[in-house]
Amino acid sequence: MVRADLGRLRSLTGSKWGKHPGALPAWVADMDFDVAPAIKAAITARVERGEFGYDFTDLDRLVGCWADRQAARHGWSPDPDLGRLFTGTLHALDSMLLLHTEPGDGVAVFTPIYYPFRTTVAASGRRLVDVPLTGPDWRITPELLAESIDDGTRLILFCQPHNPLGRVFDRDELAAVAEVAERLDLVVISDEIWGDLVHGERAHLPLQLADPRFAGRTVTLGSASKTFSLAGLRSAVAHVDVESLRTTIDGLPAHTFGRPSSLSAAGAMAAWTRGDEWLRDAHAVIEANCHHVVERLGAVDGVQAYVPDATYLMWLDFAGGPLADQPARRLQDEHGLVLSDGAQFCPTTATSCARLNVATSREILDQMLDRIVHALDEGGRP
Ligand SMILES: Cc1ncc(COP(=O)(O)O)c(C=O)c1O
Repeated sequence: MVRADLGRLRSLTGSKWGKHPGALPAWVADMDFDVAPAIKAAITARVERGEFGYDFTDLDRLVGCWADRQAARHGWSPDPDLGRLFTGTLHALDSMLLLHTEPGDGVAVFTPIYYPFRTTVAASGRRLVDVPLTGPDWRITPELLAESIDDGTRLILFCQPHNPLGRVFDRDELAAVAEVAERLDLVVISDEIWGDLVHGERAHLPLQLADPRFAGRTVTLGSASKTFSLAGLRSAVAHVDVESLRTTIDGLPAHTFGRPSSLSAAGAMAAWTRGDEWLRDAHAVIEANCHHVVERLGAVDGVQAYVPDATYLMWLDFAGGPLADQPARRLQDEHGLVLSDGAQFCPTTATSCARLNVATSREILDQMLDRIVHALDEGGRP
């Protein structure tokens, strides 16, 4: 059974627990659970051997291992020859953005969206093309795409499953995206790092499997960083099914992108080949926690929550209640609960929203929910 011990968590120095001492953190997407034993054993064995020299054994197997996992879990067989290694999912995403587009080019995102997608577009001088999803269904439709995506768009930054909404987009929705991608000759970056955390009867649907029109124009991103909480180790795979991008990447000097470390490769290999028993346990806790949040928050006024299709992130909307104005700031400053501020994900439509990370123990989650319920009961006052 996975554990999340408050004493151990309070001693950690990482961003999640180290940045706001004394508060309960449920913001950044790290889990509170003890790491999978297989990962700990792989890293510890290497540390005990003192082996930190040049060693590419695990690195050279990483793309193949990711491809095998896609085939076994999701029924999609990526071509390992199209895989390239990066030191993180965003490293790969930023690289593709810079290599494929010019300043001023339109880059479409499905808002509200994991905020680094927005900041990377702004920081690179590209033009943000918002495709605004609306609740309670958050569906992509051909009409929405026609209204949002203009002729100056060159790239789509897609997220399947979606962070922060937790949606797994279905075949019809993906067919609509494929249609526009083909018609406007767009490249699609499909960030699928949440694909191993899909709940209930739903299944992860890789874009490349959903519609043949994605072939030849899609870069799929994968990593063990979210599923196994290894974000600090730094490794990711980009499956570059866009010939022009592969030619550009392979024509650059060999060390342009650096490489993940041997420790990160050892961690990801252990996760993908020997981590699934731990993942089953962790996933069961996460799924039960999602239902628990809906049950507890469903009993109070002033907040809306729903069970996501995937991820351990929940999108809460405080509209119409006492916390409607900047809920994350109020909960943090006045109640010691740190959520991610909705406005980061969409500055216009999500100011009454906040993202809650439920990858923790039931005990800690209940302390978090107590703070939300108390804040709402008190009309938002501390
Ligand atoms: C959709 C998505 N992509 C990328 C990342 C960051 O991944 P990495 O640390 O591998 O760059 C996150 C982290 O939460 C994420 O949710």
